Amino acid sequence: MLDFQIILEAIYKDVIKSKNKGTVASYIPELACVDKNNFGVHLRTLDGKDYGVGNFNEPFSIQSISKVLALSKAIALNENNVWKRLGVEPSGNPFNRLSLLEIENGIPRNPLNNDGAIVIADILISHLKNPKEDFLNFVRTLTNDYSINYNTKVAQSEKNTGFNNYATTNLLKSFKNLENSVDEVLDFYFHQCSIEMSCSQLSKAFYVFANKGTCMLNKLRLTESQTKRINAIMLTCGFYDEAGEFAFKVGLPGKSGVGGGIAAFLPDNFVITTWSPGLNKKGNSKLGMLALEQFTTKTKQSIF
Ligand code: DON
Repeated sequence: MLDFQIILEAIYKDVIKSKNKGTVASYIPELACVDKNNFGVHLRTLDGKDYGVGNFNEPFSIQSISKVLALSKAIALNENNVWKRLGVEPSGNPFNRLSLLEIENGIPRNPLNNDGAIVIADILISHLKNPKEDFLNFVRTLTNDYSINYNTKVAQSEKNTGFNNYATTNLLKSFKNLENSVDEVLDFYFHQCSIEMSCSQLSKAFYVFANKGTCMLNKLRLTESQTKRINAIMLTCGFYDEAGEFAFKVGLPGKSGVGGGIAAFLPDNFVITTWSPGLNKKGNSKLGMLALEQFTTKTKQSIF
């Protein structure tokens, strides 16, 4: 039997010693205030056992990790509409690469790059009565934790400097792949990205993906086929132009965010989440990737 607590403690002690902890994202100014020395890891098994080390209970900005939750909500509402408007291929490009969208006539490669996530935000706005409130409730229900909230300072900070996302959204509008106004869609998208969660809350949120679409504590569910599709997209697109390297080194489906979080999981087994705000050049958490690589190497718990 693997003793996850002992394994996580050993990995923590080793990884925290790294001299190069990466660079904290500063293109969203509010994120630059976060201390680079934060580092937490949490693991939750499908039978509800929790293990954690470091700052695993401290909330951070989940940023792009929210894209998987938004995609899940859009799929649960109306899956056909989603695949008419974007694809499921990895882009092999940075998360905010704009030129591909023009070459490919306004159809984003996948729902996890910024352009695809903005189309998903547009779909949610069209389907939800009170988009921001309803989406937050979905995340709270998924996690069974009603303390989760938006950080409006972070949302405003991204709004002030989000020129690339404005360009992307305008391009989507010009290709007629946006139903709502640019401002309304970005206001929703910036709020969605600003949601704060700790590693232990994220482990609960991602439980549904490890558990074939069924949450642990409530009746909310995706079908097995929907879960298979979302998980496949995480494996192939969840780490942008580093998705291949993440599969190669870690071997789990997952999703990263520029707040320094990573949520990954082994279907039918566990969810493992990490937070360390320093990023590598591809925008993924430096220590988080290192810790996850050590974890799957030591435990041999990967999908391959
Ligand atoms: O749209 C953005 O640029 C951010 N709100 C989210 C980007 C992000 O987290 C990319 N992940 N590694």
